[in-house]
Amino acid sequence: MDFGSFETLTIETSDGVATITINRPEALNALSQKVVEELARVCEVLNNVGGSGLANDPAGAATDDGAWQVRGVILTGAGGKAFVAGADIREMTAMNLDEGEFYARSMHTITLALEALPVPVIACVDGYALGGGCELALAADFIYASERAQFGQPEVNLGLVPGFGGSVRLQQRVGLGVARELIYTGRRIDAHEAHRLGLVNRVLPTREELLAAAAETIREIATKAPTAVALAKRSINEATGRPTAEGLDAEARAFRAAFSTEDMREGTDAFVNKRQAVFPGR
Ligand code: CAA
Repeated sequence: MDFGSFETLTIETSDGVATITINRPEALNALSQKVVEELARVCEVLNNVGGSGLANDPAGAATDDGAWQVRGVILTGAGGKAFVAGADIREMTAMNLDEGEFYARSMHTITLALEALPVPVIACVDGYALGGGCELALAADFIYASERAQFGQPEVNLGLVPGFGGSVRLQQRVGLGVARELIYTGRRIDAHEAHRLGLVNRVLPTREELLAAAAETIREIATKAPTAVALAKRSINEATGRPTAEGLDAEARAFRAAFSTEDMREGTDAFVNKRQAVFPGR
């Protein structure tokens, strides 16, 4: 899988895990417009990881070259101090209204693209995940954190509001009351409080253990049917924030789509015949 070269990101792939590291440690990995542009390019490449194994490839743009070589994505930040310290405050001082809105909408596109990837994304937060950093982490399927992680939506300190999805996704993750309190106060919380609130799935002592735990989870997921994981992700995302009946309708469509896959035929046949399934990823 060819990602091309980047100024502000590093991408490594190993054993089915693609690790995207935002690499601007001098600015605590703040999401400059360059980072946004490069994240958009990575999402475009990753969107094809399923090849033509997925029925949702209407454009027919994907090929089977390297299909499912990537079974999960780790999103993290370089430098050991921050995941991402937010939108780039320096760049925002020079933006007018239109440019500010464009900046927000560009990151909305990226967060939606991460949610639409056919493989899970785990945000590994080691250090600060503030403002746009917390919002980027919220676009991952779930978050693992190290002991030194700090989360917050401090936009009100700058005369701003969350702009990269925080007013929508934070309440989905932690509930309306907690989201309001965090956003109105701009308060920072540590990894354990984030865990208690359901923002974070797991807290690991060190960065090494954090990344290893996320890779281990992706390897566990990689033993499952790729199309089933992709359809489950799609169905959960389609149901989020919708009335129950609409969510159930999305689920029924995903269940139907699963019946069209070879993975489902293989998984059920393997169970009935008491053998290990070998999923073709189609
Ligand atoms: N944008 C641009 N540069 C940033 C940055 C940001 N969000 N956060 C940190 N930096 C830069 C600093 O300016 C500093 O650069 P210089 O060395 O050139 O001065 C460098 O990173 C290191 O930062 P500090 O010296 O401030 O490090 P610290 O350890 O003293 O403090 C911190 C760390 C508490 C995270 C502090 O940097 C901070 O408060 N950063 C801003 C956090 C924030 O407000 N984020 C929200 C941004 S608005 C937003 O994200 C809107 C949205 O919803 C989209």
